[in-house]
Amino acid sequence: MSQYPIIRHRRLRYNPIIRDMVRETVLAKDDLIYPLFVVPGSNVKNPVKSMPGVFQMSIDNIVEECKEVRDLGIPAIILFGIPEHKDEKGSEAYDPEGIIQRAVRAIKTEVKDLVVITDVCMCEYTSHGHCGLLQGEEILNDETVELLAKEALTHAQAGADMIAPSDMMDGRVAAIRKILDDNGFNKIPIMSYAAKYASGFYGPFRDAAESTPAFGDRRSHQMDIGNINEAIREVEEDIKEGADIVMVKPAGPYLDVIREVKQRFGMPTAAYQVSGEYSMIKAAGANGWIDEERVMVEAAFAIKRAGADMFLTYFAKDLAKWIDKTN
Ligand code: PBG
Ligand code: ZN
Repeated sequence: MSQYPIIRHRRLRYNPIIRDMVRETVLAKDDLIYPLFVVPGSNVKNPVKSMPGVFQMSIDNIVEECKEVRDLGIPAIILFGIPEHKDEKGSEAYDPEGIIQRAVRAIKTEVKDLVVITDVCMCEYTSHGHCGLLQGEEILNDETVELLAKEALTHAQAGADMIAPSDMMDGRVAAIRKILDDNGFNKIPIMSYAAKYASGFYGPFRDAAESTPAFGDRRSHQMDIGNINEAIREVEEDIKEGADIVMVKPAGPYLDVIREVKQRFGMPTAAYQVSGEYSMIKAAGANGWIDEERVMVEAAFAIKRAGADMFLTYFAKDLAKWIDKTN
């Protein structure tokens, strides 16, 4: 008679096939959303220094990139635009001939079966790099919301499949829902950056999107890093205002928030593995301090395991290739 335990967790761990059979979380290509940065010009492909493997691309190159993304089986992209001209009012954000609006039209004409999501905010378009209209050093809420709604409408008119407001102004989801519905776009979903924290992990993105604020920070509208009850209230509000998908951002350092949001609301829930999360893995990988692929996959599993139905990630293409390789 054995003196050892009847229950042996290791029984299911010896055989790799059995390990796969009992794995609780799956990573699938349709979990992935790939962020892209569009710049003016043609044949532009500028590497983003702080984000190895990420490029600012002109519309022609973005279209080619989108074909590759679709061929890899990634269902969706999210577009960020760097305008020709920035001004105090972020005019190009809601210009029907703006960089995003032109990019969306080109992609939707040339690439079929790819979901095009557009990020809606003002910070890439304002000369001061803030997410809205300023009065002195204050970001005006309601005046900004009107411009965000106009921006969202021009994206929908250009053919965007989904609108993703990232600004964190109060009431913007309701305003965007209304302007879309009033103009015949009641079938266009809104993915709201509902619980978006004022995070140091956005640093590299601001190189990519050229959106660093000229003074101050984003703490007057993005959430304080210590709060989770407030995240629940933010998400609840966005759902009431008509959000179809709610997002938590960043992802890895806020897995508790992802879990709570998914369990509490049961809504389609997205997470954004942001630039700093990406760059840290890339940097440590490049130094040989970690196994980049392994850590990329582990971070992705963590986000899914926490409860995200989908996530935005600069690793989308690499993860899609990993999925192909391992299936
Ligand atoms: C714009 C926006 C930001 C990100 C997505 N949309 C930056 C910010 O709020 O400063 C960050 C994404 C990333 O870091 O990858 N409001
Ligand atoms: Zn912004």
